[in-house]
Amino acid sequence: MEAKIRRFDINDYQEIIDLWNLVKLPLKPKGRDKRDTIEKEISKPDTNIFLVAVNGGNLIGTIIGTHDGRKGWINRLAVHPDYQHRGIARQLVQEVEDQLSKKGIDITACLIEGYNRDSMKFFQKIGYHKHEDVHYFSKRKYPHT
Ligand SMILES: CC(C)(COP(=O)(O)OP(=O)(O)OC[C@H]1O[C@@H](n2cnc3c(N)ncnc32)[C@H](O)[C@@H]1OP(=O)(O)O)[C@@H](O)C(=O)NCCC(=O)NCCS
Repeated sequence: MEAKIRRFDINDYQEIIDLWNLVKLPLKPKGRDKRDTIEKEISKPDTNIFLVAVNGGNLIGTIIGTHDGRKGWINRLAVHPDYQHRGIARQLVQEVEDQLSKKGIDITACLIEGYNRDSMKFFQKIGYHKHEDVHYFSKRKYPHT
């Protein structure tokens, strides 16, 4: 199935949060998932590629692509359960990879939590290499948001 892909609009905000909750993505409603924060992020299209997939009037998928000048990152890939296994996530990832490539970024990566076997299977299926030897470290100025 071919979905229409377009950029996030801030008016999509509630539908996006509802989708992320439905597919149980861990959210930071007081931090980076606040409406204001997302509104600021989508206004920086050079580094932030925020896309939604739509079918008719329904928002059925999301992806956030970003880059740090060297490498691209995929976040918040989600497809509504009624539309899974129809190639929508593959299409969203391809679109982010294409847009990153136009910016000169030809490596794309993602971090997947250990419990999320489905997501690992998906990324392996579409050609991503799993690095068993990498450990993720982070430091947060506001650890509780
Ligand atoms: C992971 C997710 C985005 C996949 O979306 P999707 O639209 O169903 O994936 P696609 O249909 O594009 O699948 C592409 C390929 O991956 C494979 N794949 C997808 N989900 C799979 C699963 N759960 N197990 C095994 N393979 C899977 C498909 O078989 C397909 O291969 P094919 O084209 O040869 O049939 C979706 O399951 C989802 O939203 N999960 C909840 C949110 C989540 O965990 N996001 C990732 C956070 S890192």
